[in-house]
Parts: sequence; C-alpha cells; structure tokens
Amino acid sequence: MTGGTVALAFSGGLDTTVCVPLLKEEYGYDDVIGVTVDVGQPDAEFAEARETADALGVEHHVVDAKADFADRCFDAVQANASYQGYPLGTALARPVIAGAILDVAEQQGCTALAHGCTGKGNDQLRFEAVWRASDLEVVAPVRELGLTREWEIEYAAEKGLPVEAGNDGEWSIDTNLWSRSVEGGQLEDPGYEPPADIYDWTDAPGSETETVTIEFEAGVPVAVDGDAMEPVPLVEYLNDLAGSYGVGRTDMMEDRMLGLKVRENYEHPAATTLLTAHEALEQLVLTTEEREFGEQISQQWSEKAYEGLVDHPLMDALEGYLGATQQKVTGTVTVKFEGGQARPVARESEYAVYSADAASFDTETVNGIEQADATGVAKYHGFQSRLANASKPELAADGGSEADDGLPSGDEDSDE
Ligand code: ARG
Repeated sequence: MTGGTVALAFSGGLDTTVCVPLLKEEYGYDDVIGVTVDVGQPDAEFAEARETADALGVEHHVVDAKADFADRCFDAVQANASYQGYPLGTALARPVIAGAILDVAEQQGCTALAHGCTGKGNDQLRFEAVWRASDLEVVAPVRELGLTREWEIEYAAEKGLPVEAGNDGEWSIDTNLWSRSVEGGQLEDPGYEPPADIYDWTDAPGSETETVTIEFEAGVPVAVDGDAMEPVPLVEYLNDLAGSYGVGRTDMMEDRMLGLKVRENYEHPAATTLLTAHEALEQLVLTTEEREFGEQISQQWSEKAYEGLVDHPLMDALEGYLGATQQKVTGTVTVKFEGGQARPVARESEYAVYSADAASFDTETVNGIEQADATGVAKYHGFQSRLANASKPELAADGGSEADDGLPSGDEDSDE
C-alpha cells in the first residue's frame, strides 16, 4: 500500500539489518536505501555497514559529518555541558546523524525515514524530534512491531540475512568522536564491577603524569601546546593522549527520558580535558554573577541536548547568553593528567577579572581602597539575620518541643 523509497539509518548491526526486509514486507515500501553517518566511529563499523548493505543488495550512502559533529561538541564545551556527569556524546551525535539522513532522503526523493531503535531508549526520541519536523513519513520497525533480539536472530537465520556474531558481542557499544558508551549484558547489574576489557579508549591510570596546554578563542579550543588544530584532529589527539593516562571514565546510573534508570559506562578523555580547561578559564574571566547564572544555562542546555531538542527555541536563547559571555573566554589553560584525573594547574587570559594586588596580603592600598575600608562592610554583613533572629516567634510548645530544645530563646519560662 505504501510504496516509495525509505531511507534507513543503517549500521549493519542486527536491528537495522532485519529492518531491511521488514520495511518491504510489513510496511510495503518498494525500496530501501541505507545511510550511515560518520561521526567518528571506528573504521570497522563502516566496513561492516558496507558489507552488510552489499549482501542485502541495498543502496548504501556514507555521509561524513565529523566536522559538523565536532562543532557541536565545541558548543557543548562552551556550555560546560554534561547530563548527570555524562558529557553527552551519543546525545549530541543523534541530531547530526538524523539531519544528515534527512538530507540524503530528500536528495534521493525518499518518501519515508526509518530507524532501528527500540522503544526503550533515548535515541528513538532524538531521531524523531528531527525527522518529524519534515514532511516525510517516519517509521520505527523494531519498536512498532515489538521485536526482541531473540526474534530478530531467528528471523535473520530463516531469511539468510548477513548478520555476523562479531558486532553483537557481549556489550552494546556506541562510539563517536566525543564519547564511547558501553552498556548491556552483565553491566545491566548495577552491582557488577566492569571488567577491564570494556575499556578501549582509556588505559588504567598509572603513576606517570603529563601536562598539556589548551588555547581557547571565544570559548572554543583552537590549539594544543601551541599547535593550532582543527576541531576533529584536536579531539582525536586529546582522546589518545588523555586516554593513555586513564582520564575520562564514568560509571553511572543514568535517568533516561522515559524514566527508566540504566547503568552506563562511558569513556571521554578529550571531553573531560576540554570541559575541565574551559571551566578553569571561565573562573578567571567571568564575574561571579555570570558564572552563577551560567550554571543554570549549562543545566538547561545539557537537558535539552540530552533530549535531542536542538531546535528548541530555548536552545537559541541559551546560546544567546553563551554568545555574550564566551567572547571573553579567550586564553590558555594548562591541564595536568595525574591519577586518572585532568586537573587545571595554570591559566592565563587578557580578560582576567583579577587583580593580584587587590587579592594579595602584601599590598596596602589598591585603587584607593585599603583593608580598613572593609570594616563598614563587616558591620553590615549578617545584619538582617541578627534582626530576624532577635524577633523570632516562639515555636508551639506541644509536638514541636524537641525541635525547640537547642534554640536560644529570650524567654526562659515556656519550657514545660
Ligand atoms: N545512554 C546514552 C544516551 O542516551 C548512550 C546510549 C548509547 N547506546 C549504546 N548502545 N551504548 O545518550
């Protein structure tokens, strides 16, 4: 009944492979094209996608979106973005992937878009938030047909589909430039300590240390140790370097959008390094109030990014704030890799909101202000609490008597 061509977000894994015949048999599309978007996955994933598409006889497109994705990661740096401690790799990548697939679908005259996400995760929502803003039809076979892995494996065997056990190993892994996520299998038990072999980007922290200097221009990392670098190689370089010192591991319980809690493990050495350095530079150049308000901006930006709502008007408004503050976030920060941590150890900026003289114990008078000038401030400090405490109402004697005990009181006779 449906007809037309559907563009499928294609990885060559079990889910997207079984989607190919199902989109024809169950949904009635005439043709399926597979689209794989490069956001920095390992080469083996592209080889797998290509080979599987060939074996299925499906037209396959690969789109290089690494540069767009790296820019998005640097927006996240400007926003000091993390969701519950996770620097958002998968969440940042999905809208970029969805947008690139939509472009291919429109160029190829497709009438529909499909993904192989289940009905339990976040990714279905992120893909569809982008796709449903277009006029194309959106279908999600795995979710809509209620498929289980077991059913998929049987179906693939029956149909002779090219699924190799290789990809679908012990863990479910999602890799891009910004983070590597490992979940599923035994890791679903929150009480199970991850074995060393889940890690691929990070070595176990040793006793060696190293320092690296990151240069920022308007909140964006532009150079490492004095060498100007484009975003993609800069992130790749820091993933390698910081990863070799065991920097950027997270093991957490994460609250998904649908309300489910999941156990997640992440590796994100470059993200940790750059976020740490960026925040250290903000400490130097932004005022107290800008930093405090910036925390709320960061929280909101991170939540919307986690939800994949990149086109939300609030996002534009938040980025307006960042546009204003980030102009000053220009300078360098030296970060030390030590004990699996990235720690800022030096910072410099022409926009520093800092007067060494004013803060020093050794200087008498700065800008006409001397120590003794603080006496008036000290007299007023706490004035309202002193007034409030002096006129505090007495608490009711019954019921609240225990809470009463420790409180100073002007009246001594009310304690029975
Ligand atoms: N929970 C993370 C997110 O929603 C990452 C999920 C990655 N998927 C995976 N199969 N490892 O952003």
